[in-house]
Amino acid sequence: MNSEETIAIIQSECERARAFLDQKGNPRTALLPILQAIQSQFGYIDKDALPLIAQELNISQAEVRGVVSFYHDFRLEPEGQHVLKLCRAEACQSMGCESLATHMQERHGLLPGQTLPDSSLTFENVYCLGNCALAPAAMLDGKLVGRVNKEWIDQLISGVRR
Ligand code: FES
Repeated sequence: MNSEETIAIIQSECERARAFLDQKGNPRTALLPILQAIQSQFGYIDKDALPLIAQELNISQAEVRGVVSFYHDFRLEPEGQHVLKLCRAEACQSMGCESLATHMQERHGLLPGQTLPDSSLTFENVYCLGNCALAPAAMLDGKLVGRVNKEWIDQLISGVRR
C-alpha cells in the first residue's frame, strides 16, 4: 500500500466520518466504516494506518486494533494469490477439521490469517459454509470444496507455490 494513498483515504474517510459525528457525537460509530473503506480500497489495512485512524477519531490505538482483530474479515497484510478458507464450525469439527488446521500449521507453517512467504496462498478460518453434508468443508478462491483431507491440501499447496 502506498502510504500517501493510505493517508489520503484515511483523511477523506475521517472527513466523512466527522460530518456523521456532528450528528451522532460518538467517534466509535465512524471506526467500522473507515476500516471497511480502507480494506475495500487496498485489500488490507496497513498497520501504519492504525495510529492515524486513532488520532483522527481521538480514540486509543488499542481500541482500533481491538476492532480490527475482532472482525475476521479485516486483514493487516495483503492476501495471497489464492485464499483457502477452512471451516472450523461444529459439523466440520466432528469430521476432523481441527486435524487439518494442525496439518496446515505443522506441515506448511500456516496459522489462520497467515500467507505463505511467496504470497501464493492465504489460509483463513471460516464458520460454516453451508456445506456441512460434505464436511470437512473449505472454500478455495470462492469455490466450495467438500471432504477435504490432508492429501488434497498438500497437492493444493504444492500446485500453487511459486
Ligand atoms: S459446519 Fe462446516 S460447512 Fe457447515
